[in-house]
Amino acid sequence: MAHAPTDSDYIVIVDEPANPAPAILTTPEAMRRWRAEHSGSLGFVPTMGYLHEGHLALVNRSCAENLRTVVSIFVNPTQFGPNEDFEKYPRDEVRDLSLLRDAGVDAVYLPSAAEMYPPGFQTYVNVEEVTQPLEGASRPGHFRGVATVVLKLFNAVGADRAYFGRKDAQQLRVIQRMTRDLDLGVEIVPCDIEREADGLAMSSRNVYLSPEQRAAAPILKRSLDHAKGLWAAGERNADTLRRAVLDILATEPLGEVDYVSLADDVTLEELTGTVTGPALLSLVVRFGRTRLLDNVELR
Ligand SMILES: Nc1ncnc2c1ncn2[C@@H]1O[C@H](COP(=O)(O)OP(=O)(O)OP(=O)(O)O)[C@@H](O)[C@H]1O
Ligand SMILES: [Mg+2]
Repeated sequence: MAHAPTDSDYIVIVDEPANPAPAILTTPEAMRRWRAEHSGSLGFVPTMGYLHEGHLALVNRSCAENLRTVVSIFVNPTQFGPNEDFEKYPRDEVRDLSLLRDAGVDAVYLPSAAEMYPPGFQTYVNVEEVTQPLEGASRPGHFRGVATVVLKLFNAVGADRAYFGRKDAQQLRVIQRMTRDLDLGVEIVPCDIEREADGLAMSSRNVYLSPEQRAAAPILKRSLDHAKGLWAAGERNADTLRRAVLDILATEPLGEVDYVSLADDVTLEELTGTVTGPALLSLVVRFGRTRLLDNVELR
């Protein structure tokens, strides 16, 4: 039945002005030229694409703290082991570019592997002690690839600040170490872990999980929260804290523990006995072939 229109009969569509499309730069020379033409503070967010809210939190922070922001998307072959998922790594460039435009990013650096590693390439960055345990032990050569590509990206982008997620806790410490050791003059900004509603840390690799694995995955965060509760209640024995996490993870048959570590917050040396200083409690659990990382800082 027809009736006189009231306010609730209308949906008001506000035509927001779209952000200008970001500049797309595909070579180190083009990236460098763009930087030379754009003065003022520049924030940089390196990614491997297939963007999620974790990446966008870094991007939003960079946009808030800098005059301009560059995001790189590069699935870096040198940080993948021979039996890892480089070929199958999830990619969706069209969606990524649309998200970055919506976020107000100024430029996207999209170099090709051929540009980054031309024939004859033979120079790598080797960060020493802090790359040895944890991910370095499980993934030989991984941090050599990470440090090398991040240095190359830093050199091309010329940023003042670079944003890294605390989810990849060891990577963050490796980059902080390299930046100091090689006088890179870039401020490294650590960003908190973004999580799904049930606590699972966001990751591009979460798409690999089957529905059953996805339903089980929040056990990582639950086990860390339990240990954090013990810490808050005064527990300081390293073995007790690691054991508390392992006991919870052992209740999930779909997840196989790769490691549970309680380490010095800066050097990542594994702790024994009574823990005094700030510590990093980190773990990796495999669901099938998918490795899920998570961690919490105890201070
Ligand atoms: N959930 C998250 N919260 C905050 N930062 C994140 C999160 N996930 C990734 N990041 C950060 O985004 C940056 C780019 O990470 P990357 O592109 O490898 O995404 P990813 O989700 O970690 O993918 P994958 O798990 O496959 O490695 C890194 O600094 C990483 O720490
Ligand atoms: Mg990652």
